Amino acid sequence: MLRTHTCGELTKKDLKKEVQLSGWVQVRRDHGGIIFIDLRDRYGLTQVVFDPKHNKQAHQDAEHLGREYVITVTGKVRERLPGMANPKMHTGEIEIIVDALTLLNTSEIPPFEIDEKPTNEDLRLKYRYLDLRRNTMQQRLLIRHQAAQAVRSYLSKQKFMEIETPILVKTTPGGARVFKAPSRIHPGRFYSLPESPQLYKQLLMVAGCDRYFQLARCMRDEDLRQDRQPEFTQIDLEMSFVDQEDIFVIGEHMMKEVFSVVGKTVPKKFQRMSYHEAMSTYGSDKPDLRFDLPLKDVSSVVKHAQFSIFTSVIDKGGVVYCLNAKNCASFSRTDIEQLIELAKTYHLQGLAWMKVTKQGLESSIVKYFPAPVQEQLIKHLDAKEGDLLLFAAEQFEKAVTALGQVRLHLGDKLGLMDKEKLAFCWIVDFPMFEWNEDESKWQAKHHLFTMPQNPDELEKNPANVKGKLYDLVLNGVELGGGSIRIHRRDIQERVLKVIGLEYEEAEKTFDFLLTAFKYGAPPHGGMAIGFDRLVALMCGINDIREVIAFPKNKNMENPMDGSPQPWTDAFMKEMQLKINVVK
Ligand code: AMO
Repeated sequence: MLRTHTCGELTKKDLKKEVQLSGWVQVRRDHGGIIFIDLRDRYGLTQVVFDPKHNKQAHQDAEHLGREYVITVTGKVRERLPGMANPKMHTGEIEIIVDALTLLNTSEIPPFEIDEKPTNEDLRLKYRYLDLRRNTMQQRLLIRHQAAQAVRSYLSKQKFMEIETPILVKTTPGGARVFKAPSRIHPGRFYSLPESPQLYKQLLMVAGCDRYFQLARCMRDEDLRQDRQPEFTQIDLEMSFVDQEDIFVIGEHMMKEVFSVVGKTVPKKFQRMSYHEAMSTYGSDKPDLRFDLPLKDVSSVVKHAQFSIFTSVIDKGGVVYCLNAKNCASFSRTDIEQLIELAKTYHLQGLAWMKVTKQGLESSIVKYFPAPVQEQLIKHLDAKEGDLLLFAAEQFEKAVTALGQVRLHLGDKLGLMDKEKLAFCWIVDFPMFEWNEDESKWQAKHHLFTMPQNPDELEKNPANVKGKLYDLVLNGVELGGGSIRIHRRDIQERVLKVIGLEYEEAEKTFDFLLTAFKYGAPPHGGMAIGFDRLVALMCGINDIREVIAFPKNKNMENPMDGSPQPWTDAFMKEMQLKINVVK
């Protein structure tokens, strides 16, 4: 070993010890002929001192050291001079007076200083190995590692087996868009990269594995967002002989173990909320429950007003929803305009608004609302002087979605979110089917193998069928999702019939899964948690790139290795393929 201790370890307890430290030169300071170096490794910084009066040679050698040079030093631990201690650093009370220095490697001047976050993301990604040297990034990687350990340890104790599933697979429709890899042995044929191990984990249940998990790499050819990467990691699990609540218990206990890594306590039992309640109260199927500000349906109240914008929407089967922005009556026109612009980006024509004053409701549209309607509105919305009422009139989903975004914006702007809070919630009772206007037929809202809660409705009214389907939401982020799967052919046939598909047709696509199901498939279900999103939330950040060692940039490229690469003639020849890029 080229060291006796790490750079984050020594304290006053170690005074007078002879030690050897190795690491990178963070900074070199020259003070009155004495050279001070902050020596850095993954564990921290230690101040090392080169005093010509103590050791001439070591001091001479230190004069040539530059930033990020790699060195090893031997010396003695001593207390820093009075007034020179740094109480913020673990090693801040001591320093090493150096007897000998060995240069292990030099470094070119790095493109950015290692202790500061460079602003240009591509620069960070191009030199990711330098970016990762920063203490914040090291901490995030450590939390990620510890979270993975906590997951493995907890699930293993619960008798789950970690089993790897293939990366070169067959595409099955219904999932996300996939990446493909050509086969050299079979020219013209392609493997798909898995968007999740879904079908394989179900096959493992047929195989009698009973409880499976995997920290699974998934690949999806999606448009990037802050919380999406083309390759990401899931905590993927599946269980036999269970129902929805059994999966929730595992999920809740697992979250408890994982968050204990960052010293956070999670609620014993997570809230359950139906999809409909989430949409109608928060305008989202991933509601941020760290603050209140609920939406309210006021259609039955405002239909008695003479405001035609509202009444015409209601007559066409639409709704009028209201968000009571508490204490926001002082908002200026520009503030309100901003909210309206935001609502417009979510496909609303605009927002109507009223201020609640001492005299009652105030706005240019109040004249269309007779006094009893105004009174009812105030009562229904629990409106108090100083509130601002924001109305959206549209089809249900559009109205609540846009108001839900306004709610989030206000939560942020007014600082309503308790940043320390972990607001977990299971969203349940998702509808199984939705009506496709263009094709005049029912289509599955999720995937085809979800067990219905109320199969009796399949033939009567598909709109009423709810799935045994759930999402786990944390602080407004969809952390994971899963379902209880259909394991019996009779129910599967009836579900397929709703969307106009014969079992035999489905068999052609999902051949291996449906064939396997003929051989005694047990009742089973599972879920997958987005591991990158989980770690980001543990670190208190939004962007999952910050917790992935080598992520892709906004253009789906890696500025460091230059991927994706152009194809080469040699490769195409080997694959016996010809490429004709259609621009
Ligand atoms: P689903 O598609 O909902 O379910 O994915 C589960 C979770 O994975 C995360 N996730 C992503 N994270 C980063 N980048 C992405 N591109 C990305 N896409 C998804 C999310 C999401 O909630 N097989 C099913 C699970 C099951 O039914 O058991 C599945 O993959 O956090």
